Amino acid sequence: MQFTWDDIEQHVAVCTGCPLSRTRRRPVMGRGSRKADIMLIAEAPGGQEDRQGTPFVGDSGKILDDLLRDCGLCREEIYITNILKCHPPGNRDPKEEEKEACFPYLKYETFLLKPKIIVCLGRVAAQRIISPDFKITRQHGSWISRKNCALTATYHPSAVLRDISKYELVKKDFLEIARKRNELGGGGVP
Ligand code: URA
Repeated sequence: MQFTWDDIEQHVAVCTGCPLSRTRRRPVMGRGSRKADIMLIAEAPGGQEDRQGTPFVGDSGKILDDLLRDCGLCREEIYITNILKCHPPGNRDPKEEEKEACFPYLKYETFLLKPKIIVCLGRVAAQRIISPDFKITRQHGSWISRKNCALTATYHPSAVLRDISKYELVKKDFLEIARKRNELGGGGVP
């Protein structure tokens, strides 16, 4: 059975796959270019995203936009999504069962997008996507290769919000991501 983007969107919109469906306001499907070379995967929608139904529209989104702009990238040419499509109350860490219930959506998004580069934003995404023992402090900015895709991780933009001195560190990781995209022959495809 071949899923389409519309199929995923429709399923996410009415999903009752875990208890978060009872507390969320709006599920948050990934957004951006469906021809993008770069896929950013974060943890879960925050409160602002829950209200608007769009990823990274709150304060972390502003930091993310600054980082992208400083590295010659922009939202319209990448695809941004989350491990969980629904907001965990109080921004708590996603539970194992929530991650497992939601994972098929991410798999379908990745299958349809076929990104050249996947960037995990923060520990939760890196540990689910790259390796369960991934340490952001030590391993951010490193690359692995899997099924024709280069994977890396950096700090979540909310970590930069909490400690602005991390901005330059994360910017360096994003500059390396932009360089990698050029190396792989990618470009902006809005
Ligand atoms: N934090 C996330 O992990 N995802 C969002 O979409 C917004 C904030």
